[in-house]
Amino acid sequence: MKFTTKAIHSGYARNKEDGAVIPPLHLTTTFEFGNQGGYYDGSVSVEEWEKQKEIKFNNNYKHFDYARTVNPTRLILESTMAALDGNRFGLAYSSGSAALANIVALLKQDEVILFSSDAYGGTYRFIVKVAGAQGLQYRIVDLTDPAQTEAALKQGAVRIIWVETPTNPLLKVVDIEVLATLAKTYGALLVVDNTFASPALQQPAALGADIVAYSTTKYINGHSDSIGGMLTLSDETLYARLKFLQNAIGAILSPFDSWLTLRGLKTLDLRMQRHQQNAVTIADMLVKHSKIRSVYFPGLFTGEQGAIVKKQMKGPGGMISFEIKEQYDAGRFIKALTLIPLAESLGGIESLLDHPASMTHGSIPREERLKIGLTDGLMRLSVGIEDAEDLVGDLLNALDKV
Ligand SMILES: Cc1ncc(COP(=O)(O)O)c(C=O)c1O
Repeated sequence: MKFTTKAIHSGYARNKEDGAVIPPLHLTTTFEFGNQGGYYDGSVSVEEWEKQKEIKFNNNYKHFDYARTVNPTRLILESTMAALDGNRFGLAYSSGSAALANIVALLKQDEVILFSSDAYGGTYRFIVKVAGAQGLQYRIVDLTDPAQTEAALKQGAVRIIWVETPTNPLLKVVDIEVLATLAKTYGALLVVDNTFASPALQQPAALGADIVAYSTTKYINGHSDSIGGMLTLSDETLYARLKFLQNAIGAILSPFDSWLTLRGLKTLDLRMQRHQQNAVTIADMLVKHSKIRSVYFPGLFTGEQGAIVKKQMKGPGGMISFEIKEQYDAGRFIKALTLIPLAESLGGIESLLDHPASMTHGSIPREERLKIGLTDGLMRLSVGIEDAEDLVGDLLNALDKV
C-alpha cells in the first residue's frame, strides 16, 4: 500500500458488530477481565498464574485491561503511525514533550544523551533544566557536523542521540544515514524527531534511525486542536521497555485526542503538498524582498545542505525562517500582519508566525541563542494551507509598514 492508502486503511479492521467504517472512540477506562482469557480461574496457584501472565500478556499490546496501558482508539493510531513510518510499533503520548521524557527515562546512571545546539527550546529545557538538574548527563553539539558529533561520541557513554531534522528554527538538515552509521559504531540509539518533515516527506527508519519521534500537535494532527506525541520503532526489546515506561509514567494520549489525530493523519500527505507549495511561493517572494536579510528554507539550500535535502526529503516542507534587516523594526512587522497571527506551534492548516527569541526559544539563554544564529530579528513562519495569494499579500503589506 502507498502512503495515503495506509493512512486511511491500516490499523483498523472494520468492526464486525456494526461494520463502522471509521474507528470508534473508546472512552472506557477499564475492560472486563476474561475477555481474552486473561483472568485467574483457579487452575494453577496465584504465583504460577502471575508468572504465566507476565509471559502471556504483559508484552502483548492487544491485551486490554486498563486504558492507561492500552486503549483501542489509541492503539489504532499507534499502529497506523508505525505503518506510515515503516516501523512495527507505535506509542502515543500526551505531548511531544512527554515522548521525550519517556526516551530520557531509558537512560541509566552514567549514560549520556547527545543532542543538538539548535534543538527545540522545550527539548533543551527538559534535558538541561529538568533531567539535567537531577543528574542526567548530556552533551550538546552541532549534529550537522559529523566531526563534532564523532568527537562527542568518542568521549564515551553516549546511549542516545536525539536529533531534529530539519532543525528548529533554522531548518538546517542533518544527514540521517551518516548519523545512524556513527550511532551504530559507538553503540548508541538514534532517535530522529521527525516533527518538521512528517512521515510524508521523510522516512528516518529507512535511513537507519532506531526510533522516530513526533510532536503530533503539529503536522500529524494538523488542525491545531490536539496536543500529542508519538514514538515509532521496530526493535521488540526496546518496544517492551518503552511500553513499560509509557504505562509507568502514564503520560498517554487521551482517547479523544487519539481519535482526532487519527482523523488528521488521513489527510497528512494532501496537506503537506499544499503547505510546501505555498512555502515555495512565499520563500521566493522573501528572497527577493529588499527588507529581508536572510531566508532559511530547505527548498533554497545549496551545497552540502542542499544535497542532504535532495537525498532524504521528498520536498522542502512548509516551514520558513527569515530575518528582517536590522534597520527595520521587526516588532512593527509582527503588529502589521492581519491574517497571520503571532502564535507558538506550527504544522496546522492556518499560517502562524513565531518570534523564536521571545517565544519558542526563550528558555535558551541569550548568549547561547546568538551563538547559534537565533537573533532578535529572526521570524519563523509556519505556512498554512490558505490561498498563497492572501498569505503573500499579508506579508508584503506588513513589510511595507516597517
Ligand atoms: C520539533 C519539536 N519537537 C517536540 C516538540 C514538543 O512537542 P509538544 O509541544 O507536543 O510537547 C515541539 C514543539 O513545538 C517541536 O517543535
